[in-house]
Amino acid sequence: MEQVLEKFRDEPVTFVKEILGATPDTWQAEALNALAGNPRVAIRSGHGVGKTALESWSILWFLFTRPFCKIPCTAPTQQQIYKILWSEISKWLKRSPLLNELFEWKKTEVRFRGAPERWLAIAKTAARPENMAGFHEEHLLFVLDEASGIDDGIFEAIEGALTTPDAKLLICGNPTRNSGFFKRAFFEDRELYHTQKISSADSGRVSNEYCRRLIKQYGNDSDVVRVRVYGEFPKTEADGLIALELVEAAMSREPVYLGELVIGVDVARFGNDETVIQPRIGNTALLLENYRKADTMTTVGRIVHKVSELMKKFSLNRARINVDDDGVGGGVTDRLREVLHEKNLSVEVHGCHNGGKARDSHYANWATESWFALRDRFVSGEIILPRDDELTAQLSTRKYLLTSSDKLILEDKKTYKKRCGRSPDRADALVLAFAPTAIMTAPPKFTLVQSYWR
Ligand SMILES: Nc1ncnc2c1ncn2[C@@H]1O[C@H](COP(=O)(O)OP(=O)(O)OP(=O)(O)O)[C@@H](O)[C@H]1O
Ligand SMILES: [Mg+2]
Repeated sequence: MEQVLEKFRDEPVTFVKEILGATPDTWQAEALNALAGNPRVAIRSGHGVGKTALESWSILWFLFTRPFCKIPCTAPTQQQIYKILWSEISKWLKRSPLLNELFEWKKTEVRFRGAPERWLAIAKTAARPENMAGFHEEHLLFVLDEASGIDDGIFEAIEGALTTPDAKLLICGNPTRNSGFFKRAFFEDRELYHTQKISSADSGRVSNEYCRRLIKQYGNDSDVVRVRVYGEFPKTEADGLIALELVEAAMSREPVYLGELVIGVDVARFGNDETVIQPRIGNTALLLENYRKADTMTTVGRIVHKVSELMKKFSLNRARINVDDDGVGGGVTDRLREVLHEKNLSVEVHGCHNGGKARDSHYANWATESWFALRDRFVSGEIILPRDDELTAQLSTRKYLLTSSDKLILEDKKTYKKRCGRSPDRADALVLAFAPTAIMTAPPKFTLVQSYWR
């Protein structure tokens, strides 16, 4: 056995080929060799190039070749660590009868059957620094997936343990955030790391169609394409209202289904625009519903169905709906009130006017004020969104300007459409869902201290 361990100890590529029966891509082989020879390896890339596979191979290789090792692994959400990384480990472990005999895979751990307490890989979410603290072993490998979304506090707890000669760190992810340890690994701290960058456009694992679609939809130089295709950190545009990294952070938080139910509805005005129904519970946006070319009565029907369904699902006895009331939206608002009344549902319907007056005179209109109120929620880190590339692009590309009378104003839709080639319907529906329309006495006290209640 010792000879076997010795054979693979510094040869992870041979291990992957002979024991797991996989053929690493060139960049994966380079990364595996780098991990054998370096204490710290950092990989940034576009979507889908094989980072999580690389991590799972590294974990199995380290387990196989280091007696009594510990491998703490983490990612920003339970979904990323348990459903993605841990199932990837299971996928490869199953391929090797030898590994299956030696190691037991469990939902949050992989243990050596001969010494289950002292020889293991363990999955924890990056919710608290304590989760990653207190590991001090001779053979230690920390694996951080989607590392750009992990807080510096967690990283500091890990860094303190990287003291023994065989303590290693593997951090991989989409470069979603322009700050934090993941960014520093490629810039200020790069002498500490072996670093690699992989573009999805160069990876045989990602379809050309995916890359072409993103480039066509968002532009080659857009932040979405930089991050999702090329593995480049986002640009920080001074005049962009909501930075991409804030949107990415909101999409990597765990949902919390607590609080009021509010639905934002952006009603399509023109042929190709989408009607979007965006619900939220408290600070968590739920999956949106979107469709094209439907009359206002169909839209009313869909909204009523959605609100009844969600009130039942979350056992709520009231809700609020904010409808963009300009143009065709007006017809929706009126009919919606009637139908909800007929059905005896306790739902407030607010007709919202983008060009209407802002409460705070620093903003030129209601839409600008509401977008800034939404931005506050991103900045304070309280908003939680489901992953949606289109929504990401729409939120992170809207700009604002100063009027001649020194008021902030959102770039108008026509200019936006011309510049970006699409309508910001999903982002507008989200803004509506979070717009401060509740009657002042209605919301519970805690919402009154939030920043949009100016
Ligand atoms: N060399 C390989 N041989 C066979 N399958 C591979 C290889 N590399 C990756 N895969 C498979 O390709 C798929 C995508 O890889 P993976 O999930 O690791 O990519 P990723 O870079 O982590 O993606 P994301 O950016 O979405 O996190 C997975 O099913 C994985 O098992
Ligand atoms: Mg991955």
